[in-house]
Amino acid sequence: MPEDALLRAAREQAYEVGLTPVTPATGAALRLVAAAGNARAVVEVGTGTGVSGLWLLRGMRADGVLTTIDVEGEHQRVARRLFAAAGLAPSRSRIITGRALDVLPRLADGVYDLVFVHHDPREYQAVTAQAARLLRPGGSLVLGGALAGGRVADPTARDLETVTVREAVKALREAEEWTTALLPTIDGLLCAVKRP
Ligand SMILES: C[S@@+](CC[C@H](N)C(=O)[O-])C[C@H]1O[C@@H](n2cnc3c(N)ncnc32)[C@H](O)[C@@H]1O
Repeated sequence: MPEDALLRAAREQAYEVGLTPVTPATGAALRLVAAAGNARAVVEVGTGTGVSGLWLLRGMRADGVLTTIDVEGEHQRVARRLFAAAGLAPSRSRIITGRALDVLPRLADGVYDLVFVHHDPREYQAVTAQAARLLRPGGSLVLGGALAGGRVADPTARDLETVTVREAVKALREAEEWTTALLPTIDGLLCAVKRP
């Protein structure tokens, strides 16, 4: 899936500050999920330089608002410039600087169409619980890095990051309140729909 010059520039800036943004294939999958759900209210955890955010915004409704959270305001400054350069009005994004587990509890219950999580995998279980509260019935949760670079499937991998991602994915796949599919993108994308 080719990216335009804007996304390629944002990707380069991500690499320069040591971040790994979503791949173009994952970005296209995010855009698809947003479009399939006709998403108007989306939460992203892990803004980075805005690569995934721009993919999401391009799938959302034209009046949709992306609420995106990152602990690093410096990363978000790049994202803000990217969204403006893409011709998006400032009202299309709500960029919040802060730690995910401090910010998410302040967001409203049951009003979001989509939550995309792509920050610190050690927080995936706690953030998943927050996402279950934030999503409307029929809303979607997407976890990036759900294969942890292949380590999730390796039973000898027992570091905290891998174990947390493995348990978060397993819990979602086994829970009755979610319908799930693991998309085998290079790093894995766990998609879960909150049953109505
Ligand atoms: C992999 S990058 C996100 C990339 C972005 N989703 C993309 O594809 O363009 C992860 C981001 O999460 C942020 N982050 C790490 N821990 C965080 C936390 N506890 N709360 C909020 N943001 C966090 C980092 O500052 C970094 O910008």
